[in-house]
Amino acid sequence: MVFSVKILDWYGKNKRDLPWRESTDPYRIWLSEIILQQTRVAQGTPYYLSFVKAFPKVTDLAKAKEETVLKLWQGLGYYSRARNLHTSAKMVVDDYGGEFPNTYEKLMTLKGVGDYTASAISSICFNERQAVVDGNVYRVLSRYFGIATAINSTEGIKYFKKLAQEVLHVSNVGDYNQGIMEFGAIQCTPKNPNCTNCPLQNGCIALKERKTDSLPVKLKKIKVKTRFFNYLVPFFVDKNGLKCTVIKQRTGKGIWQNLWEFPLLESEDEIDIKAIEKVYSEVLELKGQPTITLFNSDSVVHKLSHQHLFTKFWIIEIDNPIANAVPVSNLEKYPVPVLISTFMNAFKF
Ligand code: ADE
Repeated sequence: MVFSVKILDWYGKNKRDLPWRESTDPYRIWLSEIILQQTRVAQGTPYYLSFVKAFPKVTDLAKAKEETVLKLWQGLGYYSRARNLHTSAKMVVDDYGGEFPNTYEKLMTLKGVGDYTASAISSICFNERQAVVDGNVYRVLSRYFGIATAINSTEGIKYFKKLAQEVLHVSNVGDYNQGIMEFGAIQCTPKNPNCTNCPLQNGCIALKERKTDSLPVKLKKIKVKTRFFNYLVPFFVDKNGLKCTVIKQRTGKGIWQNLWEFPLLESEDEIDIKAIEKVYSEVLELKGQPTITLFNSDSVVHKLSHQHLFTKFWIIEIDNPIANAVPVSNLEKYPVPVLISTFMNAFKF
């Protein structure tokens, strides 16, 4: 038996008796799918039942007050989903004459309906050949076919949609799609999948290679923080005719621990010369008025793994010497971040 037939066969024997499975009304399937994107079957079922009771037809939902819709959604969280639900019901009435759209393409025009939802509705209600890909499907496919491409990478998203499309059951797409999701939810679970009693045992690569724990692969997306750095680069000629500047060692646990850099002013946003004139004395003690110029009008964006540093170098020319200055000819002896050495090479003091 090929993969899709095994899934269909398993679904026939194991599917849960759920209220939306009594219907192929696209309005009801849409409601259930949007609710199930927000929560699990057990918690979502009473919400589904309240929605169809309050709004048996899409026209009823379209006519409702937003407040009523939000009240029924209360507890599910992510309220933009409920607002999209309401907007889409009105779109069905206004743009489609109250008839729920009946193709993947038209369904995609509704607010809050993406590839997953459009595939689910078009296949379940109209048997359109559109494979659903949700978390369950990623898990089943990556394990069965032994695919280690990250499911949340651009490449992975494309790859799994194509694979899902290739292996689906062409004559009963709706049940097949529900089957593979149900199989992922009940049999091929994230932890402790029931491999000892699995109809897909024979062909499953993850089982054969003992990789069920490591598949699917998901990249940890790190949140990148944006910071705004203003380096103040003092510059003067000392009594011996040596060009001098000031460089300081970083302390603390953050980036570039113990490396050296010019006096730094970090700001909440990009700042201009007027702001620099006001605050430079927080990091530099100067006698007399300096001449301040901006070295780079466009910020240098220095990318670290967790942070993007938008950096400006401000040249602070002064007539009088300042304490703890160093001759610029000595700068090369200091360990500095690449951002600073690139500046030094470009500025050439
Ligand atoms: N999860 C979300 N929608 C589903 C469906 N129609 N069948 C099984 N699991 C699902």
